[in-house]
Amino acid sequence: MSTTHQSNADLSAADLSSERLDHQESSVSSTWLDRKVGELVAEDFRRAHIFSQFGIDFCCGGGKPLSTACERAGVNADEVLNALNTMASLGSQDDKLNQLPLSELIDYIEVTHHKYVREKAPLLIEYSEKMVRAHGEHYAEVVPFAGWIRALVEDLMPHLMKEERILFPAIRALSQGEQIEGCFGHIGNPINAMQHEHEEAGAILQKLHELTNDFTPPEYACTTWRVCYATLAEFEADLHQHIHLENNILFPKSLNLAQ
Ligand SMILES: [Fe+2]
Ligand SMILES: [Fe+2]
Repeated sequence: MSTTHQSNADLSAADLSSERLDHQESSVSSTWLDRKVGELVAEDFRRAHIFSQFGIDFCCGGGKPLSTACERAGVNADEVLNALNTMASLGSQDDKLNQLPLSELIDYIEVTHHKYVREKAPLLIEYSEKMVRAHGEHYAEVVPFAGWIRALVEDLMPHLMKEERILFPAIRALSQGEQIEGCFGHIGNPINAMQHEHEEAGAILQKLHELTNDFTPPEYACTTWRVCYATLAEFEADLHQHIHLENNILFPKSLNLAQ
């Protein structure tokens, strides 16, 4: 990656995070507690998913203010506002990323998500192997868990490398109007290969969900075990956003350019 690319990406990432904070301060506030749940959903249907997660009735009980709905559901209103805030900021960030030139979107993906995977994947291996050493004898489920964590990391590391060394340079060239010359033929071929690898990572995460009761530590779990599941949940959320940017924004726009 060139120095110019790096600085652009840093700027974009900084712009996005400051915008995210501004958005958080201005969009969702405690005054929303006085607004009707149904009205909030009518404005943005994605809020319904959050209300569902908290057990808040947005359908028949949609005429009630959010504060009353939270009380009835027995949930902390601040937690609901925080979840609405996070969703709003992600939406705003997505719009911004969708407008970036492709080379800057690639910079953003590399300095944000690829860097994140490289930082957190070794921790997941370390924690899961520690779980096997400490508890593998008594709690057999930690052994396949650690095996699937290793499989996920061993799939992801070469995947990042292939994107950075083969696909992303080709997309950068395409976005500058250059003819691309690669051993892979049409750009659709490496894009298909990367999408297939995204599906494989998704299948491994599904296995991990099944093995861990959706990353819920059992009562007898030690601290490492709990930290490992929490790290994995965060890792999955980051990977979803990462794959979303590639599958739904970067790849379709690159295919359009190649037509
Ligand atoms: Fe990637
Ligand atoms: Fe990818």
